[in-house]
Amino acid sequence: MQAATTAIITGGTSGIGHQLVRKVISSGMSCIFVGSSPESVQESLHMLIAANDFPKDSTTKHQFVRGVSIDLSNWPSWTAEQTFKSWEFSPTNCIIGPFTTPLFNVSPRNPCGPSQKYTYSLLVNCAGITQKSLTHRSTTIDMARIMNINLMSLMSLTQLSVRPMLKSQRNSKATSPIIVNVASYLGHPDTHILPGTAIYAASKSAVLQYTYSLRPELSRLGIRIEAIAPGIVRGTKMIETLPPDSQKSLLHAKPHLQTTPHAVADLIWSIYCSSPV
Ligand SMILES: NC(=O)c1ccc[n+]([C@@H]2O[C@H](COP(=O)([O-])OP(=O)(O)OC[C@H]3O[C@@H](n4cnc5c(N)ncnc54)[C@H](OP(=O)(O)O)[C@@H]3O)[C@@H](O)[C@H]2O)c1
Repeated sequence: MQAATTAIITGGTSGIGHQLVRKVISSGMSCIFVGSSPESVQESLHMLIAANDFPKDSTTKHQFVRGVSIDLSNWPSWTAEQTFKSWEFSPTNCIIGPFTTPLFNVSPRNPCGPSQKYTYSLLVNCAGITQKSLTHRSTTIDMARIMNINLMSLMSLTQLSVRPMLKSQRNSKATSPIIVNVASYLGHPDTHILPGTAIYAASKSAVLQYTYSLRPELSRLGIRIEAIAPGIVRGTKMIETLPPDSQKSLLHAKPHLQTTPHAVADLIWSIYCSSPV
């Protein structure tokens, strides 16, 4: 029997991550997405149920989508927790939860039908926050939040994924696992500098360097790791919660760098689909 595949996506409650969750579900894959709070996870799950992206054929039989609440700003505390509050939905079961389960349990809570193997084949580190004030006005707590969510949690999730990905690979030869880290064009050293983005840019620059430096280590294990650096993604909370003046000047100054959550989700999906099988 062919193994079913599961993706884990952080930042899946909003913007790019949410579009990607929808794309993954419509492909027939199962998906575990992470949001910062029980409220955002449940709201997102209800939006996914309403959108009804599950394919209308027999492949949906084993498919499930699970929302997991982890506040990634609480790094490193969250890494010591064994289980997390979760809610789950599948086309054959109504919404269940809350229940607690390990993040890397990539099988459904209530399996239906004959036993089915699940493999962990995709991690997308998409959760991120931006900087809300000029750098000299940012507090130590602001700096820690940005670094903990954008960089430290991304590195921990990458590290923690290696064993379960290798185990999946051993049990099913079908998939070549891949990790995609979402950085930003602001992380490139030759980018035009924007005031009030130094801490954010530092976190994203580190994400790019971490990804490139880790690639040879993981490639020896048969795991691919990639980073993407989107420009300005219109229609995301990240852009819409900027002060109106900053939003206006950003959107006017950089029309060539503008993109959409759909386009970025498509790019991530094409990277996954180009993974050697
Ligand atoms: N928007 C842009 O112009 C742009 C450009 C380049 C790169 N990016 C990067 O793209 C990624 C996605 O951003 P987006 O534009 O889609 O922004 P968004 O709509 O604001 O989404 C941010 C996501 O991060 C999650 N998140 C924030 N704080 C968290 C925490 N403490 N714990 C767990 N999750 C947390 C949010 O979860 P909750 O909703 O549950 O809080 C949400 O799902 C980020 O890494 C961002 O840096 C964005």
